[in-house]
Amino acid sequence: MKTIRPIEWISDSGEALVPGHVRMIDQTKLPTELVYLETSDLDEIWDAIKVLKVRGAPAIGVAAAMGLAAVVQHAEVGTSPELLNCVKSTADHLATSRPTAVNLFWALDRMRSVADDNAHLDVAELKERLAAEASAIRDEDAAMCRAIGEHGASLLKDGDTVLTHCNAGALATAELGTALSPIYVATEQGKTISVFADETRPLLQGARLTAWELSECGIDVTLICDNMAAQVMKEGRIDTVMVGSDRIAANGDTANKIGTYGVALLARAHNIPFYVLAPSSTFDMKTATGDGIPIEQRGREEVACGFGRRTVPDAAKVYSPAFDVTPVNLITGFINENGIGATPADIM
Ligand code: MRU
Repeated sequence: MKTIRPIEWISDSGEALVPGHVRMIDQTKLPTELVYLETSDLDEIWDAIKVLKVRGAPAIGVAAAMGLAAVVQHAEVGTSPELLNCVKSTADHLATSRPTAVNLFWALDRMRSVADDNAHLDVAELKERLAAEASAIRDEDAAMCRAIGEHGASLLKDGDTVLTHCNAGALATAELGTALSPIYVATEQGKTISVFADETRPLLQGARLTAWELSECGIDVTLICDNMAAQVMKEGRIDTVMVGSDRIAANGDTANKIGTYGVALLARAHNIPFYVLAPSSTFDMKTATGDGIPIEQRGREEVACGFGRRTVPDAAKVYSPAFDVTPVNLITGFINENGIGATPADIM
C-alpha cells in the first residue's frame, strides 16, 4: 500500500540534520494539487498551522516541533542561554496558532523541556539536539499510529463498513492516521473494508482529504454530505464509526471536528459502536472534563464564502465553532497505542 508522509524534516546537506527545514504537504491545495511547502520561517509555519495547510492534531504537534527546530537553527546567537530564550519565544508564538489540539502544546512543551535539559550544550550541539527531538516526535507518532491501527483492526471484520468524520488519516498525523489506521492495517491483513466519509463542512476535510488519501491507497470510499449520515445509518450501511480527536479530557469527553457530536448521537440512536482513536499525546489528563477544552472559533468567510462562492447574504451573522465535544457516555471505546479501553484511564 502507498505510504503518505505529510510532514518531514529535510536536511539541507542531505547528511547532517542541521541545517534543515520542514517539508509538508499543503493540504489546502488537495485534492486537485499535491504541493509541498518547504520552510524554516516562523511566520510561514505559524500561518501554515492557522490556515490548515497542516492540520489534524498529531500533525500540528509534529509541525510545531519541527518548525521550532527549523526556526531556532537560524538564530544568530552566541550563547546557549540566548538560544534558550529564542526557543521560548518561538514556542510561545507557535502556541497562539490554534487552541484546541492539545498535541500542539504537548509538542512545544517537550521541545522546551529538551532545550532546558540540554542547556549545558554549546549552541551548535543544542540546535542539533532540537532537530533530533523534533524528528523523534515524528517517528514516535508514526509508531503510535501503527499500534492504534493494529488494535483498531482487531475490531473490524472482513466486509465491514466504517463511517468517519473529518480527516484523521495519514494526512493528519506523521503516517497512517488514527481513525483511518485500522482501515489501512485491516486492508494489509487481507480484509476488505469500505468507508463512508462525511464531507465535513465548512472546510471539507472529509471530501478533500479523507476521500483523497483513501482512494490514493486503493480503499473503497463513498463520500456523503454531513446531513446524510442518519439516513445512511438507518439503511444499515454502517458497522462502526471511527473518529479521531483533538483533545480527550480525563473523563473521556472528546473534542473533535464540528459535527462529531451529532454523529455520535446518530450512532447511539442506531446502535452502532462509536470509537475514538488517538495517540496518548492527545489525551489531556490535566483537563477533567470537556467543559475545560477551549473550542476554536473560525472566521465568517470559511462559511459564507467557502472555496470562493458566496452563499450567505451579508446581513446574516455566521457562527462557526471548529470543534465540538462528544460526551463520554456516547463513546463505546477509546483506542491509543496501548490498547482499547472503555475510558482513558484504562489505557493511559
Ligand atoms: O481543523 P482540523 O482539520 O485540524 O481538525 C482535525 C480533526 O478534527 C481531526 O479529526 C483530529 O485532529 C484528529 S487527527 C488524527
